Amino acid sequence: MTSESEREKALLEKEARFWDQQEEAIGDLYAKPHDWRFIPEIADVVIKPKTRYLIELIGRHRDRIGSLIDIGCGNGWFCHSCAEAGIKTYGVDVSPKKVEAARRIAEEKGLAHLCQFEAVDIMKWTPPEKVDLISAHGSLHHFPNLDEKLPLMVERFLKPDGFMLFVEPHYDHGMAPKLQDFIFGCARNRFIGDWFDKEHYLQVTGQAQIDQAVAPGTAPDGQEFNLRSESPAGLEFFGEEPEMREILLKDYELVEEKYFHYASGHLTNAFYTYMKPKWVRGLYRLLLPLIVWIDDRRCRKPKYNKWAEEGLWFLRRRRS
Ligand SMILES: C[S@@+](CC[C@H](N)C(=O)[O-])C[C@H]1O[C@@H](n2cnc3c(N)ncnc32)[C@H](O)[C@@H]1O
Repeated sequence: MTSESEREKALLEKEARFWDQQEEAIGDLYAKPHDWRFIPEIADVVIKPKTRYLIELIGRHRDRIGSLIDIGCGNGWFCHSCAEAGIKTYGVDVSPKKVEAARRIAEEKGLAHLCQFEAVDIMKWTPPEKVDLISAHGSLHHFPNLDEKLPLMVERFLKPDGFMLFVEPHYDHGMAPKLQDFIFGCARNRFIGDWFDKEHYLQVTGQAQIDQAVAPGTAPDGQEFNLRSESPAGLEFFGEEPEMREILLKDYELVEEKYFHYASGHLTNAFYTYMKPKWVRGLYRLLLPLIVWIDDRRCRKPKYNKWAEEGLWFLRRRRS
């Protein structure tokens, strides 16, 4: 084994362990949220434009999508929602705990006959059949050397006229400099600065070196995981400075693309997740649908795309 593949193997082991621990600690993460995604009633509003768009997109192409493979499926939510539309789904994740959860939820929802989940490194997995769509939701950026691995997956998993749907963090969870100035300015402001729960922020982001992780575990190299921060493989990816859009458009034809969360995610964290006065949180919650609506309109304009938190790319193989 070369030192490069040894390094990748070790990274993948850490990755699986991280997501196993995250799944085991999921209740604690929801109980003490560090991000709007762990506050269900808020997350439902913030992700509405994305869920609406995903449903429409799958609906528009439904007659050509009878089966899909979800790369790094996590708890299987995307497989479950596509199975609800009658699509045969295969979800693959390197974390056995996530796959356990995905299987359990499929059973609970009565979708087990349309959902097959496997706990394995997807690069080592052989699919039972080639499918009409391969998808990944926040998982591609966990693959080192993605530009080499993605064509291999496409070749092995996708029918020749199949589609790809990838939703990934964009530009390292980007935050526009002006937005950053505004939020930091508020947090430093001598009148309203105390409203922000900075201690909670420092604790849950691990920056205070206290309460490092909800359920601390020791990684193979002796480092502690912080289950609230990016996973080991996700950190590596951003360390390599990849441009997701460039990698995807190099080999595949763009059918459509869309961006999400220019400001709504960051603002929600500042003015809800880390906000102390209840009345400010209440007011923010009232304003949230409007903020999300403005954000969605803004994300439609190319000049704002660069700083959106997530990009969605719907692709197919280039016609020769
Ligand atoms: C950010 S999570 C996203 C999970 C899920 N798609 C979702 O939307 O919740 C990334 C997932 O990719 C999985 N993953 C990373 N590398 C993988 C690999 N080589 N094979 C299979 N799964 C992998 C991780 O275990 C993790 O569950």
